[in-house]
Order: sequence, then C-alpha cells, then structure tokens
Amino acid sequence: MYRFCSITLTVLGGTLLLSAGPALAQTEAGIKVYAAQKCSICHSIAGQGNKKLPLDKVGAKLSADQIREWIVAPADAATKAKSTAKPAMKAYPNLPKADLDALVGYMKSLAK
Ligand code: HEC
Repeated sequence: MYRFCSITLTVLGGTLLLSAGPALAQTEAGIKVYAAQKCSICHSIAGQGNKKLPLDKVGAKLSADQIREWIVAPADAATKAKSTAKPAMKAYPNLPKADLDALVGYMKSLAK
C-alpha cells in the first residue's frame, strides 16, 4: 500500500510539473507580446507604464474570453463594460493566434 501511494504521488508530482511548464512559457511569451505591442503606453503592470489604467488584477476580474475581446474588439468590450476611459483602446485584430493566446494567458496570470 505504501509503495502504491508513493508511486501515485510521484506520477502526480510529474504531472503537476509538466502542466506548470507550458503555463510559465506562455506567460513569458505574453510578456514579450505586451512589450512589442506597447500596451504600456496606456496601461501599467506592477507600476511600470501608464498608471492611469493598471492591469494588475485583471486576471481575477475578467475571464479569458473577456480579456480576448478587449484585445480584438475593444469597442464591443468597452460598451459591455460601460467604459468611458480615454483614449479608447485600439484593436489588435491581426495578432497571430499564438501571440494572442500568450497575451491572454499573461493577462489571466495578473491576479494579485
Ligand atoms: C490607446 C490606449 C490603450 C492601449 C494602447 C491599450 N489599451 Fe487596453 N484599455 C484602454 C482603455 C481606455 C481601457 C478601458 C479601461 C477602463 O474602462 O477601465 C482598456 C482596457 C483594457 C483591458 C480591460 C481592463 C479592465 O480592467 O477591465 C485589458 C485586459 C486591456 N485593456 C489590455 C490591453 C493590452 C493587452 C494592450 C496591448 C495589446 C492594450 N490594452 C493596449 C486603453 C488602451
């Protein structure tokens, strides 16, 4: 029984490590997309960038789909959120899917 448990734990531990890897890699990729797209002209994260529109807790506030909508269709997202903040966010409809996914993943990781 002890042996069975330790094998189960080892397998579980391996699975946890494996699943944390891609999430971290995606966050790293998302940080690069955020920098390349100059989101910090209007937003700040951890005090870096435009402090008028902090994104520090956006991952706890919005779902991944809502964040995605802000990036590809911000006018729709602003209407839904009744946002009147200016300057209005521009749309990023042409980001490659992998970049968009990484950026959304990074935003979801901002929850504190
Ligand atoms: C021209 C300024 C501008 C730029 C550039 C910009 N945004 Fe925005 N963004 C806004 C405004 C204005 C809002 C609405 C904020 C509000 O109403 O609280 C917003 C909202 C958001 C939200 C929802 C925030 C919330 O608290 O609900 C996210 C997520 C977001 N932007 C991500 C991004 C990302 C990622 C980029 C870069 C790809 C970006 N923004 C570039 C102006 C900008």
